[in-house]
Amino acid sequence: MGKYEHYLNHQIFRAVSEAACETQLMACVVGGYVRDCFLDRGDKNDIDIAVVGSGIDFAHTVASKFSPVPEVQFFKNFGTAMFTHNNRKIEFVGARKESYRNDSRKPLVEDGTLEDDQKRRDFTINAMAFDLRKSTFGELIDPFEGMKDLEDKIIRTPLDPDITFSDDPLRMMRAIRFASQLDFTIEPACYEAISRNFARLGIVSMERVVDELNLIILSKKPSGGFRMLDETGLLTLIFPELLELKGVETIDGKGHKDNFYHTLAVLDNVAGTSDNLWLRWSALLHDIAKPATKKFIQGTGWTFHAHDFKGSKMVAKIFRRLKLPLNEKMKFVEKMVLLHLRPIVLAEDSVTDSAVRRLLYEAGDDVDDLMLLCEADITSKNQVKVKNFLENFEVVRRKLVEIEEKDKLRNWKPPVTGDLIMRTFGIPPSRLVGEIKEVITEAILEGQIPNDYEAAFQLMLDEGKKHGLTTVSK
Ligand code: CTP
Repeated sequence: MGKYEHYLNHQIFRAVSEAACETQLMACVVGGYVRDCFLDRGDKNDIDIAVVGSGIDFAHTVASKFSPVPEVQFFKNFGTAMFTHNNRKIEFVGARKESYRNDSRKPLVEDGTLEDDQKRRDFTINAMAFDLRKSTFGELIDPFEGMKDLEDKIIRTPLDPDITFSDDPLRMMRAIRFASQLDFTIEPACYEAISRNFARLGIVSMERVVDELNLIILSKKPSGGFRMLDETGLLTLIFPELLELKGVETIDGKGHKDNFYHTLAVLDNVAGTSDNLWLRWSALLHDIAKPATKKFIQGTGWTFHAHDFKGSKMVAKIFRRLKLPLNEKMKFVEKMVLLHLRPIVLAEDSVTDSAVRRLLYEAGDDVDDLMLLCEADITSKNQVKVKNFLENFEVVRRKLVEIEEKDKLRNWKPPVTGDLIMRTFGIPPSRLVGEIKEVITEAILEGQIPNDYEAAFQLMLDEGKKHGLTTVSK
């Protein structure tokens, strides 16, 4: 055994080994755990055990080796069982031959050999197994040359790819996900099969598709994955809005940049500075409303007026369709899309205190992420332009720190609340309350009054007076 030996040095593998000895069954660890041992990607928390026999009975035998005995969950129809041990999910499956009906993911299952089980897996690199029987413990069982493909960095299916993908169309996404995540190449026959069969992804639930999409987005250089999604046709099914960004139109000899490739470049740039999935989603969506706002104006050229505002309004619809969470993560993306031009405008103009104050107020704690997105958005080939922008961003960053220290505007709430306004003037909730509050907020952000309670209270009194209000209490 090689340097991966320690990955098999776990109680769970010893327990499986003993159970295999007792039951006289062939048992092994198979799939992603084996692949990751060779990639030295660390201990995976999901362990798949295959046994030539009943997976459910075998899971119970293995579980009985531990004290206390973990609860075994099992799924009779699939012949699978699982329990958790030391925070790891241990799954058991009886080796099977499997085939799927064309219109459904529900498999028809018969007992099979270990090789039957291996060949119905998605890729050769995921079809390797380590024998866990005592006499042959740790021997690699690799009938489809997964090891060679791992060394050559190739994604290949053990069977004819048309069969593998029709068994489970999600595997087309997985092929691209692994290629993007591991920086592997998809073997040409396999790639062509994806291009032929891409439409079958339509029968897979959006949640599973988007889990894979998120892994592509989280890879080191996500643009590679997106180019493959585009080339094979999969992107048309998942994310048509992104494809709308493609292409360059020219009028009077003036073209605009191709916003699809620009978006991918921004995504790669963000991936270079942040692991935050939602910031990466913000990069993907930052220009999403450009097609809807595009106009050619004589004398000015191409404009995409208010694409930031309109884009932020598109986020919820896209999230809903993609079954992404409709919670504060989505709100974060909406905010990033809405504000993505602001630091650029600041960097272009002279950086005034009030503009910085306003940005701090609106971006709150997300201002650092916003700066990362804006820096990533500079994809011009003109190096002088890029240098100027980045230098100006440095000025903006310095100002942000300076003004934050002085005014503490991150997560700031105006010192006078709507409730106080209503109590002071004895008025019910109304538009006027909001208007007075807005005047106070604006005055502080513009630096017309200091950011403190006394000044804000005084301004409230003055504003009330203007509207004919009188004080009933303090
Ligand atoms: N598998 C498959 N077809 C799928 C999903 C999974 O053949 N659509 C097989 C592969 O052998 C895979 C194993 O089941 O290695 C476990 O799948 P899963 O836990 O989803 O993925 P991993 O390969 O372990 O990789 P990761 O943890 O990165 O998702």
